[in-house]
Amino acid sequence: MNFFQRTQFSREAKYLRGVAALAATFFLVSSEGAGAVVDANATEAPSAAPSPSVAGRIKGGDETETRMARLRAEIAHHDELYYRKAAPEITDAAYDELKRTLVALEEIHPAYAGNGSPTDSLGDDRTGKFPLYRHRERMLSLEKSYSEVELRAFQARLAHQLHRDDLLFVIEPKFDGLAISVTYEKGRLVRAVTRGNGIEGDDVTANVRTIPELPLELKTVTADGRNPIPDIVELRGEIYLPLAEFERLNHEREAAGETPFSHPRNLAAGTLKLLDPREVAERKLAVVFYGWGAWEPRATQPISQRALHEQIRAWGLPGVERIAVTRTADEMWAAVQAFDRDRSSWSFPVDGAVVKLDSVSDWSKLGASDHAPRWAMAYKYAAERVETRLLAITLQVGRTGVLTPVAEFAPISLGGSIVMRATLHNRAEIARNDIRIGDFIFVEKAGEIVPAVVGVNTARRMPGSQPFVFPVNCPACESVLTAEQDEAAIRCANPDCPAQLQRRLQHFASNEAMDIEGLGPAAIASLVERGRVKSFADLYHLKPEDFAASDSGKLRTAQRTLAAIDRSRHAELWRVIYGVGISRVGLVTSRELARQFGRLDVLMEADIDDLIAANFTAATAAAVVAYFADHSNATVIADLLAAGLGHSSTLAGGAVTPRSSIFAGKAFVITGVLPHLSRAQATGEITAAGGRVVGKLTRKTYVLLAGEGSGKKRETAAALGVSVMNEAEFLGRLQSKE
Ligand code: IVH
Repeated sequence: MNFFQRTQFSREAKYLRGVAALAATFFLVSSEGAGAVVDANATEAPSAAPSPSVAGRIKGGDETETRMARLRAEIAHHDELYYRKAAPEITDAAYDELKRTLVALEEIHPAYAGNGSPTDSLGDDRTGKFPLYRHRERMLSLEKSYSEVELRAFQARLAHQLHRDDLLFVIEPKFDGLAISVTYEKGRLVRAVTRGNGIEGDDVTANVRTIPELPLELKTVTADGRNPIPDIVELRGEIYLPLAEFERLNHEREAAGETPFSHPRNLAAGTLKLLDPREVAERKLAVVFYGWGAWEPRATQPISQRALHEQIRAWGLPGVERIAVTRTADEMWAAVQAFDRDRSSWSFPVDGAVVKLDSVSDWSKLGASDHAPRWAMAYKYAAERVETRLLAITLQVGRTGVLTPVAEFAPISLGGSIVMRATLHNRAEIARNDIRIGDFIFVEKAGEIVPAVVGVNTARRMPGSQPFVFPVNCPACESVLTAEQDEAAIRCANPDCPAQLQRRLQHFASNEAMDIEGLGPAAIASLVERGRVKSFADLYHLKPEDFAASDSGKLRTAQRTLAAIDRSRHAELWRVIYGVGISRVGLVTSRELARQFGRLDVLMEADIDDLIAANFTAATAAAVVAYFADHSNATVIADLLAAGLGHSSTLAGGAVTPRSSIFAGKAFVITGVLPHLSRAQATGEITAAGGRVVGKLTRKTYVLLAGEGSGKKRETAAALGVSVMNEAEFLGRLQSKE
């Protein structure tokens, strides 16, 4: 029996043993003192959880109360990581296991249950970074089940309580994201709030508005002419990251040698809690609706879960596309299994199925506990987990110099593909799990996609094995590695490190950036290794012989690559901005910077005030200014400008036929916020009148076009004897045409 089968088997066994078995085991512990375990599945716990097992932590001679308190503290610790930091340390299965153990113990020892136990809380995602908003109706979670037996028991319980055995259930996917409540008032989107503690949550409206499929207004007209718009409706759903987008983001990171994101849910949660909506827009989040809170007037509420799905569609909102409707326990179980079989082809992350009673009038008969309704149940799918041998830990150098340790293991088949590597994230992660070369490790696909090392089978550890010692030198350039205080990341601080250079060039040439065909990782590695390319600009001075082309076929390939490099001189400005890799500047910000500043040299001269005036956040503005203030970056950019890049503006498209020539040959500098014109419009007007916009203010500058917040540049202009115009004067000159 392999580990996966054992896990499946133990799920059933666990349920059947139930609380009684746990109680028995626990009493054994109590009477025997040290050495016994609380959890009947303790032998599996170390592998289910990368951190020390539940059993390991709560065994010993402690009093029951102390043990439960520790377990509670442990759950609270993981809640904090999961809900607030979006960076869990243990798998969902391991976390659920902790909670189930505590639930069982609380049932046996209600006296020790205490107030505010995590077993009856919903978690809490409030970060303190957003305004809080109180939900009109509480936002509940779901009761979870892990086995066929539990699911059938749920169906039987409801049939018994409602005295019917033909109850209609709707089966939905359990989307693996984070819960959101979106309020529409008279059909207009007014607010989006996270679950928070169920009572109040973070108001993340600005971020949620960046989701393209989310209509700001509900559609009112349908074919049958009936589509009521409530005065107020709190629609409940899930924000998630589509799998294709998750893969795109990770592909981008891997190309740049950065640690891939480990889980689409954590990434979605982390993204939604970013303070800058522009950064949120960089990652294309999605939303789906499956429930509601407040609905006024109440008389217009749907009468069934199926009717809700129809209503969501009629309003033009993203709804659950795949549902099943079942009448018997057999049908229910078959539908849940069918979802499990099919889900690998779905475009969104799923970690289970949700079974909901269809009839809303039955919901009120059943009510809810303090954290979940009694008419719904989640069924969580087990992740496939395989044991394999860790052969080596290699280090990957990223474009910013951060080193990522990678586990290289004996190939295994996991989730339909052959896998032999998985990121180990950072030094702390290896130490925390005490992962040693030669160990047997457990590998799972986090969120069904990214292979992740989730634990070590310490029972199979080789005698004499040693903890992994993180190297002190960069594997690529031998420089001594550095670790900043409180930073998990270990860095190679050598800016000339060939591995970093390769990663920077890979990002620069990638199709998201300069899109240079033929300049892939292998070609770049060869050029760097042979010292032909030391910076981005060197690419533009390459000759066919630099490609070490040994035969005519390779020479033709080299010529094609050179032609692609040459074409990229005319790449749109945003591609250059994105390609050089400024921190905090992703695709959306690059496009906006290009739109606002029009040319690379203009952007280079922008100061913090200019960037803030152009509506960038202080953090982005600081990152951009810091990038250009760095001497070596400034040299790189100057070389790129000299190679002919960064001149073509997305506005002017490079070549504009002047409408007049009143500013022919004249250089303008724009600064501050103009009262009516955007920077882009002002640049367009200057170009159309034969002038050009430059970044640097010199004696040769014709005019400084200055808006509000242009203090420093005004002073420089005065010192250089450059005249200053405000917007009205500028527009006046344009009209006078002289
Ligand atoms: S219904 C009152 N339906 O799973 C019932 N929840 O682990 C509220 N989830 O808190 C939830 N897919 O964030 C519902 N089809 C679905 C869901 C779903 C994902 C999430 C939701 C919930 C969590 C419970």
